[in-house]
Amino acid sequence: MKHLVLVALLAGLCTAQYGQSLDDLPKIVDNSTVSPSIEKYVLPALPYEYEALEPHISAQIMRLHHKAHHQAYVDNLNKALVELKEVEGKEEMATKEKVEALEETIHFNRGGHINHSLFWKGLAPAGSPESILQGDLEKAIISKWGSADEFSTALFRTILGRVRGSGWGWVVCNVDTKELSFGTTRDQDPVSLPQLVILGIDMWEHAYYLQYYNNKQNYLKAVWAVLNWKEAGERYASCLKHSATSV
Ligand SMILES: *[C@@H]1O[C@H](CO)[C@@H](O)[C@H](O)[C@H]1NC(C)=O
Ligand SMILES: *[C@@H]1O[C@H](CO)[C@@H](O)[C@H](O)[C@H]1NC(C)=O
Ligand SMILES: [Fe+2]
Repeated sequence: MKHLVLVALLAGLCTAQYGQSLDDLPKIVDNSTVSPSIEKYVLPALPYEYEALEPHISAQIMRLHHKAHHQAYVDNLNKALVELKEVEGKEEMATKEKVEALEETIHFNRGGHINHSLFWKGLAPAGSPESILQGDLEKAIISKWGSADEFSTALFRTILGRVRGSGWGWVVCNVDTKELSFGTTRDQDPVSLPQLVILGIDMWEHAYYLQYYNNKQNYLKAVWAVLNWKEAGERYASCLKHSATSV
């Protein structure tokens, strides 16, 4: 097997605050196939073991979700980026359609890679120090929703009402108003400024079906038990500090 060389990854990982943009996600330089070498996105390791979220989220789901589903987004993104590079230089009319198809593929898989990277970091073992809601985020939630319980009820209701079929539930913070709300991105776009992701919940069937079947409410309760409030709190702090995008 030829060499895959790891470059400047750690710097990228440490400065990435939200991983909300593709630029925040780790890449390696692959010199093994073509010249000049190309950069490839890589599947980020989970910050915990596959078993760590049990019994709330089974190791079976975590393993499949990470190693098969998320990996596929990364692989398909890399493949399409290479293909796009190959066709971009060419001038024939036929390449226009090809380019458009590739751009769509890139858009979709890029979204999958970003969304899942945010999702994994937003979870933590139940009962761990990370799983405690506190600080400014707790205050903001209580001031808007009354209590964490009422916040979760409203969040679940919104997600169950809004996400039909496959989709994502988000809690976002607006960098202009500093206000928290439930996800409001258009169908195909990842969350983007002025919204910053505080929490992301995968509502695709692959995220819960093996354990919860069609019971999305029970899946949401399970996710609630394994949210990483420390990470969410840091994202909220970044939102409070973030400069406004408009006046
Ligand atoms: C691969 O490319 C990187 C970045 O250009 C370079 O630092 C590294 O030495 C190369 N590795 C090999 C095995 O050629
Ligand atoms: C990623 O999340 C955005 C925002 O909810 C959504 O529109 C998009 O479809 C998601 N992409 C994938 C591949 O799940
Ligand atoms: Fe997923």
